[in-house]
Amino acid sequence: MPLLLGVNIDHVATLRQARYAGTEWAHNAEPSPLDAAHDAMAGGADSITVHVRGDRRHMQEADVIRIRAELALSLNFEMGVTDEMLGMAIKIRPEFACLVPETRQEITTEGGLDVVAGFAKTRDAVAVLKGEGIKVSLFIDPDDAQVEAAARCAADMIELHTGCFANAQGDQVERELERLRRAAVIGHQLGLQVNAGHGINYRNVHLMMSVPHLAELNIGHSIIARALKVGLSTAVAEMKQLMVGYKDQTS
Ligand code: PXP
Repeated sequence: MPLLLGVNIDHVATLRQARYAGTEWAHNAEPSPLDAAHDAMAGGADSITVHVRGDRRHMQEADVIRIRAELALSLNFEMGVTDEMLGMAIKIRPEFACLVPETRQEITTEGGLDVVAGFAKTRDAVAVLKGEGIKVSLFIDPDDAQVEAAARCAADMIELHTGCFANAQGDQVERELERLRRAAVIGHQLGLQVNAGHGINYRNVHLMMSVPHLAELNIGHSIIARALKVGLSTAVAEMKQLMVGYKDQTS
């Protein structure tokens, strides 16, 4: 299987909200997340990721409804584990839901979901979503206990948080990669699809090629930033090109 690319387009909405938040017509203003989703698809994205946060700082529910209705590509709905977001997911019916932690102060999703501490709540949310035919991923740190808890929750997938890897310097890089490799092996052994994301960019993506069992990378910021220079479809195509060499040596 080729390594798939999910493109997170939240930052397109971030730019729109910087000017239009609070206005009635905000969801029709530019730049348009729907146009971005089409461009990402044209560049070869395998899925589109959107995250409606509790504070609505970027994506709005109306964006997701339009993208769902008008885009012929798999949708990955990133969501906090709240009743409000469960209701939205059930209404929107994405192919995938990725459960993430959410705090109001953070600039972006800063750590993985603590499935160990929030086991019952996470397990119940997974059950609700799966009952609606939505495949569920848990965004977790690459720790044994979290991977095992994700499997016990009956999640379909895990997305390994690559933020520590992306921020690592010197010898730390290899240590963080080793954590990701180990978590990927355990996840695979437990029957979970293994994805990864956060902080992956054009300079570090080649290092992810040494992590086994990966099915998909989810990338947002670096692709949207690159799009300012080359346009979004080219930015996505360039990232896909860097991923074509991925071989799961151990499968
Ligand atoms: N995966 C998850 C679960 C995320 O929350 C984010 C950030 O929104 C990403 C992937 C993408 O991270 P980045 O924007 O750093 O590529």
